[in-house]
Parts: sequence; structure tokens; C-alpha cells
Amino acid sequence: MCGIVGYVGHRNSADVLVNALTRLEYRGYDSAGIAVFENDKISVAKSKGKLKDLVDKMDREGKPQGISGIGHTRWATHGEPSDINSHPHSGAKVTLVHNGIIENYKELKEFLEKQGRSFLSDTDTEVVAQLLDYYYSHIKEPVKAIIETTQELKGSFALGIVFEDFPNKVFAVRRESPLIIGIGKDENFIASDVPAIIQYTKDYYLLEHDEIAVLEQKRVRIFDIHYQPVKKELKTADWDVDAVGKGGYPHYMIKEINEQPTAIKNTVLPRIKDGVPCLDECNINPEVLKNIKNIYIVACGSAMHSGMVGKYVIEEIARTAVTVDIASEFRYRNPIVGKGDLIIIVSQSGETADSLAAMRLAKQKGAKTLAIVNAMGSTIAREADMLIYTHAGPEISVASTKAYMVQLSVMYLFAFELAFAKGQIDEEKYRYLTSKLLETPEMVEKVIEHTTEISQKISTKLLTADSLLYIGRGLDYALSMEGSLKLKEISYIHSESYAAGELKHGTISLITKGMPVIAVATQSSIYEKTVSNIKEVKARGAKVIMICREGNDVPKDIADYVLKIPNFEEILLPMLVCVPLQLIAYYTAVQRGNDVDQPRNLAKSVTVE
Ligand code: F6R
Repeated sequence: MCGIVGYVGHRNSADVLVNALTRLEYRGYDSAGIAVFENDKISVAKSKGKLKDLVDKMDREGKPQGISGIGHTRWATHGEPSDINSHPHSGAKVTLVHNGIIENYKELKEFLEKQGRSFLSDTDTEVVAQLLDYYYSHIKEPVKAIIETTQELKGSFALGIVFEDFPNKVFAVRRESPLIIGIGKDENFIASDVPAIIQYTKDYYLLEHDEIAVLEQKRVRIFDIHYQPVKKELKTADWDVDAVGKGGYPHYMIKEINEQPTAIKNTVLPRIKDGVPCLDECNINPEVLKNIKNIYIVACGSAMHSGMVGKYVIEEIARTAVTVDIASEFRYRNPIVGKGDLIIIVSQSGETADSLAAMRLAKQKGAKTLAIVNAMGSTIAREADMLIYTHAGPEISVASTKAYMVQLSVMYLFAFELAFAKGQIDEEKYRYLTSKLLETPEMVEKVIEHTTEISQKISTKLLTADSLLYIGRGLDYALSMEGSLKLKEISYIHSESYAAGELKHGTISLITKGMPVIAVATQSSIYEKTVSNIKEVKARGAKVIMICREGNDVPKDIADYVLKIPNFEEILLPMLVCVPLQLIAYYTAVQRGNDVDQPRNLAKSVTVE
């Protein structure tokens, strides 16, 4: 998704803006641009492609010099990636950058064209720039013009704005799309996310819907929609610049895979009291849990896959019905939820548009909402009735690994507490399961160590595959979904995950000689069943990569490669098995020469539908 930054201070603003945008590259983008006050005039530089293309262009054509400005990385929505469509966009006196989507831009454009205004780009953003310029030309006061403009806009936006008549001031406003205001010493910032500014300051304000910020070098003022000053609570990021660097690893993804043991510890340990989970600080207590009728886990992508694992775990040990829903489906199908139901929204970013809309819909229908979110202060975190933060730290790689892992750990914490509250497990079992969960960081570390080499080797066998299948049953099927998503999103090899028992109903016709099938078979009660399915694909020529447990009796000749996971508490195995699935995807993508951390067409934080 688009990234926004802005700066007013004492440094060379073009450098600050490019540095800050570099920290937002993980969000995914296809063009970049900056606008800087140079001798009290706004000077714009923008380019299709990566930030390096912008920097090269500025090296060739001159870098704007000044101490304030705004910057943007664009993920194309309206109009192809091109120099013209890149942000910033301008009217006569106004230049701005935008994250979000303006739904009524066509009507607004028609109105502006009738006023004699013309447009250079295909973007909705240029319409906002012209509309603001139109109001400013009448009102002559920037904040009032911003208020007037935002009242006309439908959709989502975070805007960074400069007015030619107000050198060295940066204005910002947001609705739905996130925006923070970084507070430094004699310098202030705007940014879509904290990593952008963490090398300059850890202190920031969260801008709320329709609030307007006015930044100068030595002060920041924030106003509401009625132009009344707003007092904000200063937040401080609890991680530093090292957390957003690669720390010696070639890619963020492999760094983040290796950070998983620490991420689990940071997420689980603070929630354990006297040897059992305690989610009181999240507003969840046994009374709340006892009264839950049905649970819906609603999310997108990997976060939804963590919900799939959650479903199996919660149903198994807490005997409570769980429906897992894709947020973009849930929100448009008039779901039957209401009082007594719990909707769990899972999101790393806390800003995913569909997940947020699903949560709001569930609230409207009278259900209670619980958010499992990684990004502090994000919209989903703020609007949920109950909240469990995962503490993965910043996840920069587009492909989720450590955030997914800690989502799993929270599913277990929640399931154990629910099971005990509902009387489905006794205290001994409750304590035992919790103690096993506490062992997972160490076990995950071991698995990373022991499966890296074989995962690398397996990945060399996948490089030229056109397509492959992941199969499994139960929890192994839930994991297969995540394994398959991870592989396709970064290696660009087509793959599907299938419930192993469902193959015979159609999909097995796809199996041809040499087609790789990754079979996950770690659950003892269904092991033999999965083995039978593996035999069926093997008999039709598949190249089988089998993931099972140490000590499993693997029949001769059913697998070309066997990757063994240490024996551990069965219900917790997903936290171990996801590691080689991540590693296989990672090494396949690396060997295919792909941009692992920023796969094509993808964005980290999907703030538009
Ligand atoms: C895949 C991936 C995505 C996200 C999905 C939801 O590796 O990262 O599928 O899981 O876009 O994002 P969040 O968790 O931010 O709501």
C-alpha cells in the first residue's frame, strides 16, 4: 500500500524523506516521489519504479534542497504506475500525497472540470489536490480549506499536504488510512507507520479520523473537524532502529523467521500468571468466556490461516463451535451473528480494510469483538471490545512469518483459557498445556536449526515446477494452507492446498509424473489416513515431500523426501511445522532470484478493498 512521509526540521529534507520512505518499502509500491520547499517554492521530483530510480533521477536532474517537504511511495490503484500518476500531485498552490481511495472522485472531477480545472493524471489523488486548491483559492486559510475538502470526500485517505503560501509547514489529515505524527527535537514528521521515523524519533501521536495536524519545526498543532485544538497522548515505540534493519541477514523474511522464538516469548510470557494464561488485561476473563455461544474468526490471508489452526484447537479442547471466515466474504454476506457471539479479528497491521469492515459489521450486529493485532494503536486494535496484542515487533517482509507464528500462540492461550472456563479441561491439563506452550520458543529454535538444510535441499527440487499441491488433514490441512500461500506469494509457483481426503473428488486428476506434492502428516489419529492419500498420489507419479514426526513409521517408497519434526505435544505441533513450510518457500524464492521481501503486486498493509 502507499506510504506517506513528511518532514519539517533542520536536516536536508529530501534525504530524510527518502530515508523514511525506504523504511516503508515493505508496504509494497511501484513509484515514488517527494515535494520539498526550495527557496519558498515547492519543488517536485517523482518517478515510476523503486526509490533508487527516484534517487538516480534526482542525481541526474538535481535534488531539491530544503528543510521541509512530503514524500510518497505509490501502490497503483487508479491509473498505471507511471511518472505522471506518481505522487505528489498539485493544484496551483497546493501539493499533496495520499494513501487510500477516494470513492467519489469521478463526481468531484466532473465538478472541478466544470470550474475550468484540468487534470494531468488518472489518479483520484489529483482530484483531491485540485479540490483542496479550489477551496483554498476561495477560503485562503489552509486548515479551513482542508476541513471543507475532507467533508466532500468519500472513502479513505491519509494526506500529507504543503501549501506554497506557507513555506516550511506540513499539513496532514486522515480518515480510515493510518497516519502518525512523529515528534523530534526541533524536527517533526508525518508517516504511515512508525518504522519510517524510528531512526529519528520514537515519540509520536496517533492521528484520529478527521483530525488535522499542522507541523512546524518547533511545534505541532492538532485540530478537530470543527477547528478546535485537540490534546493528544504522546506514545513511545518500544523498539528501536535495529528492529527495522536486516541485522546481517540477506532478507527480512529469514531474519523474521529466526526472530520467531523471541516473538513467541514476548507474546506468551506476559500473559502467564501462576502457570496458566491470564488475559484479564485484555478485558477477557472467565465470566466473559463462559458466556460465549459461537465463535467466528474473521481475517485475511495468513492471519485467516492462523484462524484455521485456531478453529481446530478451540473446537478440540474447548468444544466450542468456530467458523473461520475470509473478511471480504463475511462483510458482504449479511452474516448471522449477534448477541452472545464472539468475533475474533486477526490482523498483523490492524489496518486491513476488509477485516476492519468485518469487525464494524459484527459490532453493529451486537456481537462482541476480540482483536488479535500486532501493530500498536492501529484502528482494529482501537475499535475492538477486547484486544490481545501480539508482540512480534515490526514485520517488514511482506510475507508474514513471525506475525503468523504469534497469532498461533495467542490462539492457544485463548483456547486453553476458554477450555478451562467452560470446564472442558481440568486444572491439571490446563497447567500441563500451558507448560508445553511455554516450551515452544525453544522447540521452534531447534526446528529452525534442524530443518534449514533439508528445506534448502527440498526447495531445489521445486524450482522448475509449474504447480504443486500441499495436502494434509485436520491441523495439517490448516498448515498446508499457509504453506501453499507462502510458496505462491514469494516464489510465484502455483500451488494449492487440499484436504487430503478430498483429493479423490476431483483434484487428483491434476497429478502427473513428477508433480511435487508436499504432504503434511503430523497428527497421530489421522496419520494412517494421510499415508493412504500419499500412496494414492505417489502411485500416479507425484514427487512426494513428506513432513511428519520423528518416530513415525514411514512406509517404504511413499516419499521422495522425508522431513521430520521433533516429537512434541500434538496439538502444538503447528507452531513447529510451519517453520519448514516457511523455509521451503523462502529458499525456493531466493533460488528463483525473486524479490523475497517485496513480492510483485503485493502490499504489506492492505488498507483498500
Ligand atoms: C501473507 C500475508 C497476508 C496477510 C493479510 C492480512 O504472507 O502477509 O496474507 O496475512 O494481508 O494482513 P493483516 O494481518 O495485516 O490483516
